[in-house]
Amino acid sequence: MEQVILDVDTGIDDALAIAYAVHSPELNILGITTGFGNVSEEEATRNTLQVLDILNVNREIPVIPGADKPLSGTHIKAKATRIHGEDGLGNSGLPLPERKPLPSEAADFIIEKIKQYPYQVTVIAVGPQTNIATAIKKDPDIVHLAKRVVIMGGAVTVPGNVTPHAEANIYADPEAASVLFESGIPVTLVGLDVTMQTLLSSEQVGKWSNVKSAYNDFLQTICNYYIDAYHQFDSSLGGCALHDPLAVGVVIDPSFVKAVPMHVEVDLERGESLGNTHEAKQGKRNVEVCLEIDVDRFVTHFLQRIT
Ligand code: BDR
Ligand code: CA
Repeated sequence: MEQVILDVDTGIDDALAIAYAVHSPELNILGITTGFGNVSEEEATRNTLQVLDILNVNREIPVIPGADKPLSGTHIKAKATRIHGEDGLGNSGLPLPERKPLPSEAADFIIEKIKQYPYQVTVIAVGPQTNIATAIKKDPDIVHLAKRVVIMGGAVTVPGNVTPHAEANIYADPEAASVLFESGIPVTLVGLDVTMQTLLSSEQVGKWSNVKSAYNDFLQTICNYYIDAYHQFDSSLGGCALHDPLAVGVVIDPSFVKAVPMHVEVDLERGESLGNTHEAKQGKRNVEVCLEIDVDRFVTHFLQRIT
């Protein structure tokens, strides 16, 4: 079993990624760390606890609050309420969570677990990379002790989704992405290059209405909201992108994608290319970039696991 920490900014596709991970016996979830991004850090923590409640998870999965702002100290990007709803979960109206977060800090938890399970821990980071970058800055030893970090983030060969050049998770904290990429930890980048191909359609979501449960209702509410938001953004797409679930999928089965080693840099200058992730002409390969995806096999696997 793979020892994993999920690092989330729980929004809709983060919730789907959590559900996918919880339903996957290949993964042992050591904990879920939270941070700002789609919503505030506080909302991300609440949403994560609510998702675990509705999933009825009865094994120990601690939730640990983390960064409420980027490394620079100033927010560059607003919350993503247009895509994820006012509450970050498609305005699904879930009851307040029953479980509580750990009275700890995300970066400390990441350091502790990587040291407790040397060379075994994979961090799956599907929000801005602030928590993992903070952990690296606090204790650089973890660079050699972590197995790898798989991030949903970046757009190396395709345009961005928050600016013409930048993907949302990188744009929200470009300095954190740069710290991670330059750290020496093995990094796999699951970016828009592949995630924009993994679309979930309303026809697929409609099939879930056959089984009645609070969890099924929740899945339909958030996915329908997400599909509508994507439709308003680009009506030609025909569905919503399974960004964060794909990062989980790549850890469960790396053969869903083809990844190519590259030297990737992040543009840090405040200007139109801020947050751009591009292949640098020179420099040691620091990131495995996912460039091809077996869409049908991944989406089928995801759908079988979450329902
Ligand atoms: C990423 O940004 C967020 O809106 C999603 O949750 C995903 O992690 C996609 O660019
Ligand atoms: Ca996310």
